Amino acid sequence: MSADIIHPGHLNIIHEAAKLGRVVVGVLTDRAIASYKRLPYLNYDQRALVVSNLKGVDSVIPQTTLDYVPNLEKLRPDYVVHGDDWKEGVQKETRQRVIDTLAQWGGTVVDIPYTHGISSTQLNAKLKEIGTTPEIRLKRLRRLIAAKKIVRICESHSGLTGLIIENTSVTVNGRRQEFDGMWSSSLTDSTSKGKPDIEAVDLTTRLHALNDALECTTKPVIFDGDTGGKTEHFVFTVRTLERLGISAVIIEDKVGLKKNSLFGTEAIQTQDSIEGFCAKIHAGKQAQITPDFMIIARIESFIAGKGLEDAMERALAYIEAGADGIMIHSKDKSGEDIKAFCRELRKVHSDIPIVVVPTTYNHITEDELAEWGVNVVIYANHMLRSAYPAMVNTAKCILTHGRSLEANELCMPVKEILELIPGTK
Ligand code: SPV
Ligand code: MG
Repeated sequence: MSADIIHPGHLNIIHEAAKLGRVVVGVLTDRAIASYKRLPYLNYDQRALVVSNLKGVDSVIPQTTLDYVPNLEKLRPDYVVHGDDWKEGVQKETRQRVIDTLAQWGGTVVDIPYTHGISSTQLNAKLKEIGTTPEIRLKRLRRLIAAKKIVRICESHSGLTGLIIENTSVTVNGRRQEFDGMWSSSLTDSTSKGKPDIEAVDLTTRLHALNDALECTTKPVIFDGDTGGKTEHFVFTVRTLERLGISAVIIEDKVGLKKNSLFGTEAIQTQDSIEGFCAKIHAGKQAQITPDFMIIARIESFIAGKGLEDAMERALAYIEAGADGIMIHSKDKSGEDIKAFCRELRKVHSDIPIVVVPTTYNHITEDELAEWGVNVVIYANHMLRSAYPAMVNTAKCILTHGRSLEANELCMPVKEILELIPGTK
């Protein structure tokens, strides 16, 4: 069981199992669950505690993979009792493996008819409607990093883009794929306000827009903190973000007038000294209140035309200064510099979270990035970049025809937009 939201269906299975003998429940770990669906609301210890206190349960063991076989071989049970929904779909094969394993010692699978009228999926939808709290949202990023092979983040610059990231999913090879959280990008926040990405949009204004997304979503947010500003100001930024339930801020090691990194060496930009940036990280870490908020140091060495040695020297110093993660950035199209950096950093720090923004080297897949040692991938500007050409096309279409009839096929139907946001009617 995942046992995140316990309902009568679970109790029925335990009740039926208790008729057959001593009941041991395999509770899936966060990592096992996150390998195929959303991270549970409660962590493993909390879920195991709840299940072990249910009537009819004798003991609980962790199930660390979706595959039951390792636990079965350990316990050699007479029966495996499961809801009969696993007879169909992706779980069919898992069930067959259980049957084959039990056959080795004469055990049997018992399929309990699915309890209709209640399901975790329905309850989950209801919970999403209720929303979240800043504390739960803030903690979620660290939990995701611990549980997932790679955490997938997408840029959001409005309530609407937040909703897209919250609700969009696809099924690939029987597995549900969705975004794990949002990136509050300085580039898209500035661009959507018609301003350049030079820290001209102040923090208060950016948070005002971010609040729209916070109001209608539950997923965690990583905030693009640009240079972090003056150290004396950064400490206030940290507290403000933490209070709002933002999970992490990423600050880049630049000083003076910041320009967007994707200009590379075309724009004149200055990297901070190692000492200067370490002092900023340290001050930020001292300022935060919860242990969960993350300050991630962004290294601009490759952007500035420097090499692996400089990037590594900085990474080690920033981690020493207290950084909770490293973002390594590059505008090189091959991704080779990022790969080399990840390999090198992993030799000395096996666990420090590594964050990447593969805008230019976007032929590299998430699986490949994970294999390099990357923990978080950020699609940093894709909601805005895809919306803009669509809007320009519609504008041109109306101008060309002197009416909007021809633009119909470029637009979503009016009925659909009216029904898009619950509560419109
Ligand atoms: C942003 O999205 O604002 C970033 C990433 O900082 S980049 O644009 O690649 O610099
Ligand atoms: Mg930025």
